[in-house]
Amino acid sequence: MRLLMCPPEHFDVTYEINPWMRIANGPDPQRARAQWTALHAILAEQIGADVALIEPQPGLPDMVFTANAGLTKGDLFVPSRFRPAERQGEVAFFTAWMSDNGFQIRPLPETIEGAFEGEGDALFYGDLLLTGFGQRSDEAACREVGTLLGVDVLPLCLTDSRWYHLDTCLIPVTPSLLAYYPAAFDAAANAALEKLPGERILLTESDSLRFGGNAVVAGNRIVINSGCAALAAALRKRGFEVFETDLSEFIKAGGSAKCLVLALEH
Ligand code: ARG
Repeated sequence: MRLLMCPPEHFDVTYEINPWMRIANGPDPQRARAQWTALHAILAEQIGADVALIEPQPGLPDMVFTANAGLTKGDLFVPSRFRPAERQGEVAFFTAWMSDNGFQIRPLPETIEGAFEGEGDALFYGDLLLTGFGQRSDEAACREVGTLLGVDVLPLCLTDSRWYHLDTCLIPVTPSLLAYYPAAFDAAANAALEKLPGERILLTESDSLRFGGNAVVAGNRIVINSGCAALAAALRKRGFEVFETDLSEFIKAGGSAKCLVLALEH
């Protein structure tokens, strides 16, 4: 498994673009560095993932959340088009890194309007690309990403600003096991999710508030924020090895384990 992470050198809360961010409640830099290093060690050492790093940039405090760089499929990469101006400066750095590392860049055409925030709002469930829209990404842009990458897309409307990216409230655990928080989606999305094949784990509100719905999956091993008791138990019951690691400082910016990682292989 190949992943991209960005060290938290410049991570901070200097603006507020989601309900979790409070400039007055910024992260502790040392604790953030220790938490990021622990997550990196779980992925690179315990799980054995091949973790590449991109150089962090001053003035881009959310660049640590590499899931929002864009979306890969094979050697194709669709760069994000961020909704908040505060994050738009990240695109050039991520795109240059992906291009230098062998990806063919497939930008959204200018004729397609709207935002697309990468793997934050686009997760593969088997071959189907589940996308989140209505908060940070737009439906038309999500559909166009499917066309650019040659995959089928199921757009799901997110209705609660606390779960503003799909990866904050949905985990495709395997191609036949989906975990999600129903209250984060509208009725049509819930109906569509219920129709998908496979088994479902419905996340509790308290686990969702601790970013339980934001997990890195590597085969039968899963990494989540600590303290998501019901989800950890449901996964362990099904034979998964669950790594719980404290990511409190990143939750102050509205992100947890999955947000800190971009998959370089699909
Ligand atoms: N502060 C960041 C933002 O609001 C957090 C991004 C979290 N990333 C994610 N993939 N959900 O853009």
